[in-house]
Amino acid sequence: MTVHELEEYLAPIRHEYPDPRSLILPALKYAQGEAGWLPPEAMAAVAEATGFSQAYVESVASFYDRCYLEPTGRRVLNVCVTLSCMLRGSDELFEHMADYLGLDGEGTTEDGMFTLARVQCLGACDRAPCLQVDSGEQLGPLEAEDATCLIDDLRQEPAPTRYER
Ligand code: FES
Repeated sequence: MTVHELEEYLAPIRHEYPDPRSLILPALKYAQGEAGWLPPEAMAAVAEATGFSQAYVESVASFYDRCYLEPTGRRVLNVCVTLSCMLRGSDELFEHMADYLGLDGEGTTEDGMFTLARVQCLGACDRAPCLQVDSGEQLGPLEAEDATCLIDDLRQEPAPTRYER
């Protein structure tokens, strides 16, 4: 992704963000779509396209758990661990998924297929415990077996051509 491409993406939506700082998030999201994470050159492009320093852009990105500062797997499994989900077994769900994926907690599988992460409330507390695949819809309530089936199904799906997380 070039700065020019990013500027072209931002041009029609700039007016929706009267405070220029708020333009940083859609710019980060677009930039992340290229590689699935935000390498330094993507941060630099966002900084140039939005008119903020790279340090400021990085500070914004580091605040959001959906901005990935390191490479991720092809699919990201975001398990909510906030109160409603925790009370309905999200810790056990997370541990089951980690075991099934061969991970010791959060991380990326050796084959680069999955990243498993704990995230804060996904806004679907009525479906606790829930998770989200990439930036898709929230799925829940999930039993351990549901999560296992989900992982098996995702292995069969073609990888997205552009990351939308
Ligand atoms: Fe899990 Fe709100 S607490 S979705």
